[in-house]
Amino acid sequence: MNNSPRAFLAELVTAAAAKLAELKNASVPVIYVGCATCGRAAGAMDTIAGFNEALVANGIEAIIRKVGCLGHCYAEPLVIIQNPGFPPLLYQKIGVGEAGILVRSFLKDGSDPCYEYLLGALEADDNFPTLMDYPRYLFENRVIMEHCGLIDPEDVDHYLAVGGYSALAQGLEEGGVRVLEEIKAANLRGRGGAGFPAGRKWEIARNVKVFEKLVICNGDEGDPGAYMDRTLLESNPHQVLEGLALAALAVGAGRALLYIRTEYPLAVEIVERAIAQARQKNLLGSKILGSDFSLEVSVFQGSGAFVCGEETALIESLAGRRGMPQPRPPYPAVSGFQGKPTIINNVKTLSTVPSIIRNGASWFTAIGTPGSPGTAIFSVVGEVEYPGLVEVPMGVTLEHLVVDVCGGVKNGKTLKAVQIGGPSGGCLPASLLQTKIDFDSLKESGAMMGSGGLVVMNEDTCMVELARYFTDFTQGESCGKCTFCRLGTRHLRDILEDLTKGVGSAEDLQTLQELSEMIVKGSLCSLGKTAPNPVLTTLRFFRGEYEAHFAERRCPARMCRSLIAFYIDLEACARGCDACVACCPTEAIFTTSNRKKAIDQEKCVKCGECVYACPPEYDAVRRISPPSLIPDQGVKPLIEEEKEEK
Ligand SMILES: Cc1cc2nc3c(=O)[nH]c(=O)nc-3n(C[C@H](O)[C@H](O)[C@H](O)COP(=O)(O)O)c2cc1C
Ligand code: SF4
Ligand code: SF4
Ligand code: SF4
Repeated sequence: MNNSPRAFLAELVTAAAAKLAELKNASVPVIYVGCATCGRAAGAMDTIAGFNEALVANGIEAIIRKVGCLGHCYAEPLVIIQNPGFPPLLYQKIGVGEAGILVRSFLKDGSDPCYEYLLGALEADDNFPTLMDYPRYLFENRVIMEHCGLIDPEDVDHYLAVGGYSALAQGLEEGGVRVLEEIKAANLRGRGGAGFPAGRKWEIARNVKVFEKLVICNGDEGDPGAYMDRTLLESNPHQVLEGLALAALAVGAGRALLYIRTEYPLAVEIVERAIAQARQKNLLGSKILGSDFSLEVSVFQGSGAFVCGEETALIESLAGRRGMPQPRPPYPAVSGFQGKPTIINNVKTLSTVPSIIRNGASWFTAIGTPGSPGTAIFSVVGEVEYPGLVEVPMGVTLEHLVVDVCGGVKNGKTLKAVQIGGPSGGCLPASLLQTKIDFDSLKESGAMMGSGGLVVMNEDTCMVELARYFTDFTQGESCGKCTFCRLGTRHLRDILEDLTKGVGSAEDLQTLQELSEMIVKGSLCSLGKTAPNPVLTTLRFFRGEYEAHFAERRCPARMCRSLIAFYIDLEACARGCDACVACCPTEAIFTTSNRKKAIDQEKCVKCGECVYACPPEYDAVRRISPPSLIPDQGVKPLIEEEKEEK
């Protein structure tokens, strides 16, 4: 028993735990900075430089560690400070200046923990608000994201110390069949979009009597606005690798690869480092943890076409051919890459596998709904107060996710709709916010789970323009193989574009409906089959908005440029304030005879800059639709008036 995978692992864990305990009990402050792509985009690397400089200037010794993403996009850059004598504290929006203040006030003097930047303590404490009491944590159930943002993704020991690779050791002892049975019993449904049960797919591949098999982690993630997979790869890569290894064990594969789009350079770098470290500790590679099971793992960088996320197109692109979906059957699980049984699973699906093996299928099925057990990760973006990544149990309502967990719509505006399921997901009105988030309920509502993108929209969003935007995206990403997808989506896009310009008729709405249905029927892969979803759902729930565009040449949301105009309310405009003049790119704003401002409609290009420039205390710039509603204010430019007087 001493040479068992668990015994091998125990030795690694003892060393890793000692290393992590040393960091947790350090006698000097430890500063953890969120350095996933989102943190870096918000300036996390400058924050680190700011800390370093301030620490040197104040003669303070401290340890700085880079961690991944906690999911609170609205608060980046995020920093956790573990100052001896205090609980670990999470700070938000820490730039160079704030880093300096924290070093001087908290680390040097120890007197002021800078409550103004504090989000909360990571542990219960009488003196600090606890992060776990905030709605974001209270309502979330972090299974896959449990360690994201809290451990160093570039140090395998961090993952080992929090229980990492124990599921793999267990799987190696109990055998691949046992792993397969547990995943089947858990009814783990694929998180990449279709929700196909992972266990059933693995069983098909396992039963094929071919020696060489392959497992692939699909990290292509092409949906605009979605970044769950990238975050997992960057924040906890070993969890994905452990899931991948368990999948390989279950199907009997000796080779695995991670297909990651080349636009995710940090994810590629972190995963490659993780593979090297895991191999070095014999967690991957030959005879893993002293067992008979070997697995070679590598990374393939996809060139970033949305359609290459589709599994048969992905296989084509791996083979060096153009990424075009292929008819199924044969399914890749039977005959995939180079004709070998190939299992493709999403990053989130594989990330869930270790926790199921560790805790058992019944633990997993107790979360979520009977038909969709477990949790779902959403990237909640758009007009929401607290955008970011959120992991909730399946079965909660959309309203709970948007309002309770993410703080509702920002700036006191009202929620108009949510677009769920990525570019070819559905657009649901506020009246359907009671819809449950699970594979089946969303499908019934006309939307879909997709891979977890959720865009929140307020009353300023035009649904016709939204449908045009997403149709334009999918049309551009169509591989061109099917006529309906290639030309049908283009025709849809053209009609929608005309409507946003006020050109169209009731007949066009009929065409949109019929053509959409034909595209669904006539397309080979789900790109074409789901591309009309934004059109169909907006037509169904926001038909009146479509009609206003062609019948009244009016955009109710006042968004479509051709159908709006700007003017300045002379009552509200402040005499002598020139803020709008300076921002106008076309010099369309002139001073009137009473020294107020007005807009020359001939020159105005409707960029909307003046709306934002006008100070909120005046709020004098009006956006209206249709343009014919501009009131005749009888204004003349001051210069003309002066000329006339002369
Ligand atoms: C156009 C298109 C793009 C897709 N993109 C992805 C993707 O980026 N990541 C992903 O995991 N699945 C994507 N899928 C779904 C995959 O084809 C496949 O179903 C999935 O990777 C299987 O993994 P799962 O069962 O774990 O969800 C896409 C499908 C289509 C039709
Ligand atoms: S539906 Fe579209 S993306 Fe899919 S194979 Fe046909 S043309 Fe290509
Ligand atoms: S909308 Fe743009 S172009 Fe028109 S007046 Fe305002 S700033 Fe100028
Ligand atoms: S910014 Fe607003 S208040 Fe100032 S001049 Fe322009 S319209 Fe008037």
